Amino acid sequence: MKNTKPSSLVSLEKQLADFLGVKYTVLTGSGRSALAIALRSLEIGNGNVIIPDLTCAIVPQTIISAGLKPVLVDVNKDLSLDLESVENRLDPATRAIVVNHLYGCPADDMRRILSIARQKGLFVIEDAVQSFGATLNNRYVGTFGDIGVLGFAKCFFNLLRGGAIITNDAALASNARRSQAQILRRANPLELRFRYFRRAAPNFIKRLYSILHGETTSPEPPPDGLYRRWEVTYPYQCQHLTSFEASSILQTLPALGRLKAGRVALAEEILKIVQARPDIGLELLLPHRPDFTYTRIPVIIRHSTLDKWVSYFRRRGIVIDMYYFPLSDNLLLREHSLLSGDYPVSHALARSLLPLPVSAEMVRVLKSLNVTRDIP
Ligand SMILES: Cc1ncc(COP(=O)(O)O)c(C=O)c1O
Repeated sequence: MKNTKPSSLVSLEKQLADFLGVKYTVLTGSGRSALAIALRSLEIGNGNVIIPDLTCAIVPQTIISAGLKPVLVDVNKDLSLDLESVENRLDPATRAIVVNHLYGCPADDMRRILSIARQKGLFVIEDAVQSFGATLNNRYVGTFGDIGVLGFAKCFFNLLRGGAIITNDAALASNARRSQAQILRRANPLELRFRYFRRAAPNFIKRLYSILHGETTSPEPPPDGLYRRWEVTYPYQCQHLTSFEASSILQTLPALGRLKAGRVALAEEILKIVQARPDIGLELLLPHRPDFTYTRIPVIIRHSTLDKWVSYFRRRGIVIDMYYFPLSDNLLLREHSLLSGDYPVSHALARSLLPLPVSAEMVRVLKSLNVTRDIP
């Protein structure tokens, strides 16, 4: 059959593979579709997949959509997977471990995770959506496990979407291409919209019913500490990366070293202020490393609450995002996940971890910050 893939996509697949030092790249419309395709390409049926309790809710949602069960485990203080909890949660249904490299600051002990996985015959999926270009021991994250998942919306590329799967395994790459073709054949945008509305419809009907019956109060709030939140998978994210997006990545890729150095220099300026001003009460989550890409700088707040910090920055025109609530507290996800006891570290981090955007504006705002006056 004739290969009709646009030449920019073919050349991006080749250049990305060369850049990262892997054999195969499969481009996708988003990080979440890369994860969905990666999970399908492992052919692990309906087994269990270990994930950290503190990460983006799209991760378990995608695992559930692929017919698998997320197993939530606690994290260490540096956000890496707590390997003791991982080992305690292994059972015959466990098939894979997802490692999340958050904020462009990978902290995972890949060597030990890979060793547990090899001993137990598990796949390792590295989710590097937030960490494109970050390295560990001079090797790009995403290239350590059996299969890596990248995203182009979070870092360096000025795109709203885009992703890729990377692997050195020919069989996984060919499975990924086949799964992607199947998903794209099925991904008729009208059908996806219909599926989305079908999921939203019961809530809409309940709401309409309560309005018609004059019930003006909002539904019962969830029990203390628990919450309900379902991330939305927009139809466009299942589509191909376009040749326009591929060309834009191709143009940026050669400048990545320079862009990364610029980001690190700005991050270092912010880190210096945080360290020189103990009165602000921010503590670095991780020691600085020049091989981070600093999609955000994760810091711990010692004063006030996360809400108050977020609204302070919002008032100063800086949007704080990418902070997470424990997945084990999400009532909608709990129904489909396997829990394992308590998650003390994940809960403590959810209350205190503030991901600072790296920008000149952040430098200016932090320099003039007076905590007792601004964040009571
Ligand atoms: C850790 C992680 N994995 C996967 C995704 C999904 O990526 P995308 O938004 O490109 O679909 C996100 C999105 O924020 C993420 O933070």
